[in-house]
Amino acid sequence: MENWIDIGSADELSATPLKRVTAMNREFAVSYKDTKFGVLSNTCNHVGGPLGKGKLDGEYIVCPWHNWKFHRCNGKGEPGFEDDCVPAYQVKVENGRVLIDLNSATKRHKKSHARDFDAIRDMLADEVRLDLVAKLQKKGRTEVVPYFDNYARLEDWNFVPGLVDGIPAALVRNPSDPTGKLAYFILLQWEGDRVANIRDFRFARYANEGAELLVF
Ligand code: FES
Repeated sequence: MENWIDIGSADELSATPLKRVTAMNREFAVSYKDTKFGVLSNTCNHVGGPLGKGKLDGEYIVCPWHNWKFHRCNGKGEPGFEDDCVPAYQVKVENGRVLIDLNSATKRHKKSHARDFDAIRDMLADEVRLDLVAKLQKKGRTEVVPYFDNYARLEDWNFVPGLVDGIPAALVRNPSDPTGKLAYFILLQWEGDRVANIRDFRFARYANEGAELLVF
């Protein structure tokens, strides 16, 4: 059964390419481009960034926190990450009002961006610090980039976004471990859209004990 609700005036919502809109105690990212509205959940799949506060890149909404992209009409992740999708809604305009069908929401589906490190490498701050706990420390983009190259050569990791004691983290599983148990984690500290600090517990797996892990 359909459940159409009014989320605002078509004139007002078409005046900005992307906007966060609250209706029925829910938040939506409402976009307008080439005479067509798109409506997604406002909540990014990564760590909950406000998509409606981002910007448009072609047909994609770019999350303002860490630049993940979702198609503004169907909610699918950018090419290569289509299985990582946020809810999208059917939209229509009637009598100058924008309506969405709440019951048409597509399912939120989170999928690990297995090679997220490639994207993170592009977002390193110039003065980024790396602490490969119990092993080595590096400072500055030039010193830290080889660490990413080493990861690219390894096969024993697969990242899932999450929180460790409330801090954004990459939770790491070994894809060949049938138990799916978390092997270790990497804490990522952001400054704006740049990665300022990386603490990788690959060689300090005891840190898992007592840590509160939350998988997105
Ligand atoms: S919260 Fe959206 S990309 Fe990180």
